[in-house]
Amino acid sequence: MTSAPEELWAISDAYHNRHLIAPNAALDAALAASNAAGLPEIAVSAAQGKYLNLLVRSHKWARVLEVGTLGGYSAIWIASALPEDGRLVTLELSDKHAEVARKNVANAGYADKVEVITGPALESLPKLSPDPPFDLAFIDADKENNLEYFEHAKRLVRPGGVIIVDNVGRQGQIAREEIQESRVEGVRRLLRALQHDPSVDCTTIHTVGDKGFDGFLYALRL
Ligand code: SAH
Ligand code: DHB
Ligand code: MG
Repeated sequence: MTSAPEELWAISDAYHNRHLIAPNAALDAALAASNAAGLPEIAVSAAQGKYLNLLVRSHKWARVLEVGTLGGYSAIWIASALPEDGRLVTLELSDKHAEVARKNVANAGYADKVEVITGPALESLPKLSPDPPFDLAFIDADKENNLEYFEHAKRLVRPGGVIIVDNVGRQGQIAREEIQESRVEGVRRLLRALQHDPSVDCTTIHTVGDKGFDGFLYALRL
């Protein structure tokens, strides 16, 4: 029996993860607590979370900004990559999501490294200072505001730092101009701005796996 492509992606992801990603009780507990609290199951995949973790460790980065906390799953992956004096600032609209995230982060042992700021990111971001600057920004919130978040990330991330935007693949919907949906339009609007932006150089890495067909946009702050 051949499987549907989505099934094959998930099976392949799981196979690789079994070899490369050690079981982690705190991450499993964070997902379980998020599910129990009724949060949507839209955290990054384990492989994507580990990618963010390895990226931070590869560069010995110490200051990370995240837009879109949910239950803190990606936050724990990132926090566990930070050095002793490292900090993650993560922005979340929902009081409920932020509360679940703070508990999950504390349970994982990273309460001292992670600050969860509640409220609309468009209100929180202007209050953040680029001094000291961030090394990495991970944008993963409401897709309609991708461009606004990206502009703030450019202000806050130092030259040589990186901005990653999640969910820019969206099952290939971005390239299908007949699809007019606000989240899809949010990605297109970002791409149009980046086409003529001399302050970053970018590429999209499409991803498949247990979170379907999607993508990470990687931007080097010039
Ligand atoms: N990064 C998380 C997933 C984030 S899901 C992980 O991988 O584990 C997207 C999150 O963005 C949701 O929790 C949603 O509540 C939040 N969000 C939506 N609109 C927002 C806004 N305007 N400001 C801040 N957060 C927002
Ligand atoms: C959605 C948001 C995400 O951040 C994600 O990773 C997957 C889906 C969504 O809004 O549907
Ligand atoms: Mg996402």
